[in-house]
Amino acid sequence: MKITEQLGTATGATVEDFDHTSASDTDIEILKQTVYTKKIAVLKGQELSPRQFLELGKRLGDPETYYEPMYHHPEIKEIFVSSNVPENGKQIGVPKTGKFWHADYQFMPDPFGITLIHPQVIPQKNRGTYFIDMGRAYEKIPEELKKAITGTYCRHSVRKYFKIRPQDVYRPLSEIIDEVERKTPAVLQPTTFTHPLTGETILYISEGFTVGIEDADGTPLDDDLLCRLFEATGQLDDTFTHDNIHLQSFEQGDLLIWDNRSLIHRARHTDTPEPTVSHRVTVHDERKLHDGIRAV
Ligand SMILES: [Fe+2]
Repeated sequence: MKITEQLGTATGATVEDFDHTSASDTDIEILKQTVYTKKIAVLKGQELSPRQFLELGKRLGDPETYYEPMYHHPEIKEIFVSSNVPENGKQIGVPKTGKFWHADYQFMPDPFGITLIHPQVIPQKNRGTYFIDMGRAYEKIPEELKKAITGTYCRHSVRKYFKIRPQDVYRPLSEIIDEVERKTPAVLQPTTFTHPLTGETILYISEGFTVGIEDADGTPLDDDLLCRLFEATGQLDDTFTHDNIHLQSFEQGDLLIWDNRSLIHRARHTDTPEPTVSHRVTVHDERKLHDGIRAV
């Protein structure tokens, strides 16, 4: 295993000669440390079957199966499929996923620490995924904003981006909304937490999933505060040129592993619909998202 830090950027490392079937436990530990400190590891030369991809994920932690079955790979349910390429005339997984700033499973009570993506069909023109490191972004926000959010909590919900399922056709919208609120009620997390593996302070908010901010007593604070945080961290920049935004490219055979505690991400916009397919595995490592979440 050979790890090279990507030049000219603080984010990212390239990992060559990695084979999950022969990697030692020490190799896995080094790889995980690279993910926590460099935030994104790009493993080269990984042409893995869905089953092999899941096995690689299991070396890093316990896989989380996505709660909505329409995203599942037909054979391996732990794999989440994002695809706009039908197979034998049949839609597999879900098209156009994640075109908004978010951390994976941020709207759930127990989000996982690590996300793995194995691109299968790679767009020619608009490849890559946008990332913002919310640890570094927190450091850069003005002191008065840091002060304003001390001791506050944020609410996260899937409601803005919940995707209508095939079985929802002909259902009243109000009934679907009620179901979303019942099955995935908004969750409360501290606005900032300490990354349990690096000690960094992470600003845990995203424009896609964060729907409210409140003080320690549960009194809602003005939404303008959230807007200022989104603005200051680069999430409202629709040109994607903000200093905080990192575009991570990839090529065939790459497998991306990233720190889902500190990074928020967003699928790249495409004006022309290009074929794109990617497989995702998500895993819980040995710690909770932060130490305020108790093991059940
Ligand atoms: Fe995502």
